[in-house]
Parts: sequence; structure tokens; C-alpha cells
Amino acid sequence: MKQVVLTGIKPTGTPHLGNYFGVIRDAIKMSENEEFDNYYFIADYHALNSLKTKEDMKFYFKELACTWLACGLDPKKVVFYRQSRIAEDQELCWILMNVTPKGLMDRAHAYKACVDANKAMGKDEDDGVNMGLYNYPILMAADILLFNSKFVPVGQDQKQHVEMARDIAKYFNKKYGYTLVVPQEKIKESVATIEGLDGRKMSKSYGNQIPLFCEESKLKKLIMSIKTDSTLPTEPKSTDCTVFKFFKLFASEEKLAEMEKKFAEGISWADAKKELFETANQFLKPMRDKYNYYMENFDEVIKMLEEGEKVAKKVAKETILRVRKVIGVED
Ligand code: TRP
Repeated sequence: MKQVVLTGIKPTGTPHLGNYFGVIRDAIKMSENEEFDNYYFIADYHALNSLKTKEDMKFYFKELACTWLACGLDPKKVVFYRQSRIAEDQELCWILMNVTPKGLMDRAHAYKACVDANKAMGKDEDDGVNMGLYNYPILMAADILLFNSKFVPVGQDQKQHVEMARDIAKYFNKKYGYTLVVPQEKIKESVATIEGLDGRKMSKSYGNQIPLFCEESKLKKLIMSIKTDSTLPTEPKSTDCTVFKFFKLFASEEKLAEMEKKFAEGISWADAKKELFETANQFLKPMRDKYNYYMENFDEVIKMLEEGEKVAKKVAKETILRVRKVIGVED
């Protein structure tokens, strides 16, 4: 039996460079390793909490599905599916709630951040908190445990959630005997935080992101707007800056060395940014073309998902049957 690698992304916004270099690229790389069985999915039910309209759900789901494929996900090597199509996930979620201490959920970062913000504003602690937010980590545990996942490649921000899934698996196994595979997160340590246009972490909440597949002209405009210091055009520049950090993501070693030299000798920010645009665009263009193709031929994407869902369902049913038996609701 091969070990299972599983990861999901929630469709809550247009995928940006931070998503790609933070998680997607590594996840795709892992899926090329024949040693593992891979399950990559769209966490649409996890997005429910942050989305305001059904149109947003449809659109961000479409963008994310096309993004996975454009970035190289191969449905022959990966079981690719929508979380919402696997009803067994919800069943497992309910069962897991019964072995999950409330105190564990009280410690979840996302929930705690809401509570702290409420307190700071003198509001009721749980103001605006619904049970979808509160139980978010339990659904995530169900996502992971349903497919017997061993490794879960995620960004640093999801580390606690995977740890909680591990705790929940252990609670379940302690009560009912070994039933669920105990998962472990895979966080690529060497990847520094991807900076946004203003030098802070690239994030939708800061509005400083560069969309992965925006049009060329927009990409150029955004790159030209990256925040820089006030060194004069001919002065040497520190490579500890957002422009150079972006270069590192896109450029070959050779090109990077060249750029380092130019920085030391003095290159204007405008020229450095122009070179960055050329390099980034060259890197992104083939993926962008694929992305545009899938956006225009979305029925092909749905077909791939449906194929994946058949496989995912089969595994999900096996797990649920095993779980139902050990808890005593089925013989
Ligand atoms: N919470 C993850 C995010 O914010 C998405 C997610 C849902 C996930 N279920 C998962 C990731 C299971 C890994 C494994 O993007």
C-alpha cells in the first residue's frame, strides 16, 4: 500500500504568487513522485464561511480548479475532486466532533484571532463567529483522515490545523482502537514568506498580491509598483529587497548571479523591475496560456473532477464503513 499525500485549497480569492510558491508548486512536485497516492481537492465547504454570494463561490471555484491544472496537476497521477461531492466527509466530521474536546477548538488560531479582535473592540467575545468557523479544524481533520493521509503539504498558516487533525485521529484511535492513519504536515522550511507589493507577506487581506495569471499588462503594472527604497539609479542596491526576492523565485541561478552583480554595481529600480517583469512573464506565460484554455473550456475540467470524484468516493466509502463498524452503528 502506498502512502497518501493529500492537500486542499479553499476557493476564497484569485490565486496569487504567494499561493503558487507557498504551496501549489511543491504539492505538484510531490505528486510526480510515484511513491505516493495523491489526493488534491478544492475545499469549497471550507470557503463557505468567507464567501458572500453564490456567484463568488462559482467563480473562485472555477479559477482554482483551472489553476491547479495550469500549474501542472496531472489527473492521471492525482485524484482531483471537490470536497462538496464527498458526502462521507460530512459524516466523518460529525463522528469526529464526538472525540474532539471543545478546548482544542478554543485554541485554534483563526477562532482566537476573532475573539481577540472582538475583545479589543469591546464587543462580545463570539461576535460574528458562527459554528462553521469554530468547527473548521474538525472538517479539515475529516478531509485528511477520510483518505488515510500520511502527508499533508500545507503552508505555515495551516500547520496548527494539521496538528489538530493528528490529535483528533489519536483521540479516535484511543477510544476505538487503531482505525485512522495519523497524519503529519509537510511544510517546506526553506521557503521564506512570499512578500507582496508592499514588502509585507503576500495576502489577500493586505491587498498586496500579484495574481498568478493576470494579463501581461497588469503583471507589468503591478511589478512596476513594487515598493522600493530611495537609492538613486546609479547607486548600488541591497539584495535584501522585494524586487530581488521576486527575482529569486523566477530566475535561473545564472540570471540571478547576473542580477546580483547589477545590484552591486548600481541599476535603476525601473530597469531592475523591467527585467523582473520579463523574467516573471517568461516563467508564467506557458501556465497562463493553459489557465486561459481551461477557463474557456471549463466542461473539460468538470469531467476531470467527476472522474476523480468516482475514485475519491470509493476510498471515502471504505473508510466510513470501517469507522461505522468500530463505533457500533453498523455490523
Ligand atoms: N484550510 C486550508 C486553507 O485554508 C484548506 C484545506 C481544507 C486543507 N481542508 C484541508 C488543506 C485538508 C490541507 C488538508 O487553504
